[in-house]
Amino acid sequence: MAITISPITPNFVAEIFDVDLTKPLIATDIDAIKAAFWKYSVLIFTQQNLNQDQQLAFASLFGPVERERTLDPKATPSRFNGAFSDISNLTSEGKIWAGDSRQRMYKAGNKLWHTDSSFKYLPALASFLYADTTVPVGGHTEFADQRAAYDALSEKEKKEYSDLIIEHWIVHSRKRSGFSDFNEDEKKRLPPVPQMLIRLIPESQRKSLYVASHAGRIFGKAQTEGRALIDRLLAHVTQRQFVYTHRWRPQELVMWDNRCTMHRGTDYDDLRWIRDMRRVTVSDCANTCEQAGMSREKSLHYSFG
Ligand code: OGA
Ligand code: MN
Repeated sequence: MAITISPITPNFVAEIFDVDLTKPLIATDIDAIKAAFWKYSVLIFTQQNLNQDQQLAFASLFGPVERERTLDPKATPSRFNGAFSDISNLTSEGKIWAGDSRQRMYKAGNKLWHTDSSFKYLPALASFLYADTTVPVGGHTEFADQRAAYDALSEKEKKEYSDLIIEHWIVHSRKRSGFSDFNEDEKKRLPPVPQMLIRLIPESQRKSLYVASHAGRIFGKAQTEGRALIDRLLAHVTQRQFVYTHRWRPQELVMWDNRCTMHRGTDYDDLRWIRDMRRVTVSDCANTCEQAGMSREKSLHYSFG
C-alpha cells in the first residue's frame, strides 16, 4: 500500500500515514515522501517507535548526517554519539538536569525562533526529531513558514533584500538567551559565517527568507540598522498566519526543512517532567552564498570589519 499524505494546510505541514520507518522503504515511497517534503516543508510521522539506527537510516536518505556537535563533549557530555543531538532535559546519565546545568543554559536557546545550523558555514538541509517521551503540559514545537513569509513581502522589500548577506553566529543567539559560557575550543570551531537573507529552494523553485536568532549583522549596514531589520524580519516570519504548533505524541518523528522554516520549543516544567527527544540533522549541499553563485573563495573570505 502506498503512503497517504494528509496536509495540515495547503502548502505547509503534512502528516504521513501508511508507512513504517522501522523498515527499509521501497523506492516509490521514498520518492513520494521526498515530494511531500519539498512541498510541505514539515512532515509528521506518528506511531513509529524508532531506534537510533532506524532514525539514522531514514535521515540518511536526505543527505550527509552532521556528526560534529556544537558543544564540546568534554565540557558537556551527551547520552549519544555525534550523530544525535540530545533535545531532552536529561543528563548524560539519564537523570533530569539540574537548574543551573550547562546543558540547560545552552538549550534555553532552542526556545528562540531559529533554524538549525545556519551558524555553520555549511548549513543544514533537514532535521529529524524523534520523541520518545513527551510531557503532559507544554513542550510543543512551533514551526514558521519562511517561504510564505517571503511571498507576503512587498515587491520593494523583495528587491531590497534580494542581495543581502547576513552574519550568523551561535554567539548571537546565545547572547539573546543569556548563555555566554563558550570555551576556547567551542569558539574556535564556531566562527561567524555568511548566509544569504533570501534563497531559492531548488526543488520547489520557491523563494524563501532565511533568518534566525543566530543572525546578528547585515553586511554593508550599520550594526544597529542591521539588527533592527533582523528583528523586524523575525517578527514578520513568526506572525500567526505562518506558524504551526506541533503537540507531540510519544513515538513520533517530525522532520523539517531548515532552508525555509524556523522553529522553537515552547516552555514546560523541565525540572519536573521528562521530555526525551533526539535529533538527527543532515547537511545542505553548500553555503547559501555559494548556492547563489558566489565563489567559494569570496564567500569564505567574507569579512564584517
Ligand atoms: C531542535 C529544537 C525545539 C524543541 O530539536 O532543533 O530546536 O521543541 N527543538 O525541543
Ligand atoms: Mn533547533
